[in-house]
Amino acid sequence: MKEKILTVNNLQKIYESGDVKNHVIEDFNLDIYKNDFTVIMGPSGSGKSTLLYCLGAMESITNGEIIFENKDISKLKNNALSELRLNKFGFIFQQIHLVSNLNLFENVALPGLAGPNKTNDAVYETAKNLLERFGIDDAAKRLPSQVSGGEQQRAAIARALINQPTIIFADEPTGALNQNNSQIVMDLFTELNNSGQTIVLVTHDKRAALRANRIIYIIDGSIVSELNLDPYQASNLQEREEKVNEWLVSMEW
Ligand SMILES: Nc1ncnc2c1ncn2[C@@H]1O[C@H](COP(=O)(O)OP(=O)(O)OP(=O)(O)O)[C@@H](O)[C@H]1O
Ligand SMILES: [Mg+2]
Repeated sequence: MKEKILTVNNLQKIYESGDVKNHVIEDFNLDIYKNDFTVIMGPSGSGKSTLLYCLGAMESITNGEIIFENKDISKLKNNALSELRLNKFGFIFQQIHLVSNLNLFENVALPGLAGPNKTNDAVYETAKNLLERFGIDDAAKRLPSQVSGGEQQRAAIARALINQPTIIFADEPTGALNQNNSQIVMDLFTELNNSGQTIVLVTHDKRAALRANRIIYIIDGSIVSELNLDPYQASNLQEREEKVNEWLVSMEW
């Protein structure tokens, strides 16, 4: 029996600009399960990023509730919200926002130093371990501008993990990477998920979607279909690919 980790009830998100109301998400319901690797796909403009930011408490919602650890996190105010984002959720973006005048090691450690429960030494130790694990320890002392896009993204993932978040949210994390770097980054996500990390990831990249055990397809802010798969294994890929292809074709993707 899978454990629910986040529940969305009747989510509505409207963007207003002047007199124009854009109903991006309407009457949306979803459970996210612990240890799952959930991927969200759908056409451009269907509301994937908006949904992800609402789930991850990065964007306010218009109506509904988002339950996490028995609380409606959509009602949290300033401090509680910052604490939640810092300690419970990790975010990874397509456009990598590393601090340009800090080296990779400092970038990774930064949110850890702001966290409440650990000594600086413990944070530095965790940062060092993550950089090693992600194969970028050689680049630890370099600035973001002095490393490749793939290395920057690996550092951004390490940074998102520094406070051992309960859920990792990623919006097109391979969108700006070449095929080789995409594969390295997706291998990392797979490894993290294999060690129990819950992941919710938005992508246009079918190869990235193959890593999921659950793929949700949204159109105009509503779920139209979902596909459940066994956990990813590098072997037996052909069958998995055929299944996902067939499903995506039926979505007219
Ligand atoms: N800050 C905003 N203000 C007003 N409208 C917005 C805002 N952000 C997004 N939208 C609109 O909401 C809709 C959904 O956008 P969203 O970015 O969530 O789509 P998406 O599925 O992530 O698209 P893509 O695949 O291109 O990234 C679009 O119509 C978009 O124009
Ligand atoms: Mg988007």
